[in-house]
Amino acid sequence: MTGSGPVAEVAFCGFDDSAAQAGALVAAWGGALETFHMVETHRFPDQEVRVRLDLEGRRYKRAVICRSLDQPDSKLIEILFASAALRDQGVEKIALVAPYLAYMRQDTAFRSGEAVSQKVLAGLLEGAFDGLITVDPHLHRVARLEEVFPRMETCCLSAAPVLADLLRKENVSADTLLLGPDAESIHQVGAVASAAGLSAVTALKERSGDRQVAVVLADPDMFKGRPVILVDDVISTGETLIACAHAALKAGAKSVDACAVHALYPPQTGKAFTDAGIRSVKSCDGVLHSSNAVSLAPLLATGLASLAEFNRE
Ligand code: R5P
Repeated sequence: MTGSGPVAEVAFCGFDDSAAQAGALVAAWGGALETFHMVETHRFPDQEVRVRLDLEGRRYKRAVICRSLDQPDSKLIEILFASAALRDQGVEKIALVAPYLAYMRQDTAFRSGEAVSQKVLAGLLEGAFDGLITVDPHLHRVARLEEVFPRMETCCLSAAPVLADLLRKENVSADTLLLGPDAESIHQVGAVASAAGLSAVTALKERSGDRQVAVVLADPDMFKGRPVILVDDVISTGETLIACAHAALKAGAKSVDACAVHALYPPQTGKAFTDAGIRSVKSCDGVLHSSNAVSLAPLLATGLASLAEFNRE
């Protein structure tokens, strides 16, 4: 154990790509600024990475590493090293706040020989962390986060109230129709709609390839003359939103906008959205992106407070 002062509250640690979110989380948690510690990384010419997380002699019982796992592969090894650096400095309990959690979709071997990535990721994180907080992870056949991480305390947050607040602040008109892309999205789009006092419907979506998405509306008549807001958990290639926008506009929608929890798409996809008639795309800030319009920090702080074991003295 390094350091000799009193054991402070919780250390909050962020990387260069997550420092802003980590800082916002410190503020939402009500922590002192000096409890924020930056994780330094250095890529060697051979692509190995050196991770340094210096607590500057401060002693902490608990620490939080804040980092979304979009573009996950190098981020994963870096958070594992950062966790080890915290343990070496005497930290007993470490929580990972990863608003976007990677590798949740491959929850089974679809073809023989495929690795079940979700399981592998769970084993890695359970070996390094005592708690995990995430927002709207893309779960499917394994429906609950605690089933994915049976050996770790988890908190699975929904950003529906945050998106609903965003829509309320924008004063969207009362006849606005929220559209979720597929039957599975009903929980999310339904929750946003009921919190925002709007109505919601889902489309029928078929994905035949990474970039091949077809969408059908069960009741196109509902769309005539109404503003439509597409609601999704993740925007990756953007093809889902584009297919939904085409279907809604073809059915006579007055306008199409979109909001999502996690925006992963590259800048050039913005033009494809405009070309498809999507006026605006807004996202939560768990993944840093030009579409970020609303902060997840207060929600993440409530998630952190809810981890009973992590917070136990
Ligand atoms: C899929 O089920 C998700 O809810 C999203 O609709 C999907 O991940 C979006 O991906 P993309 O932007 O590549 O169509």
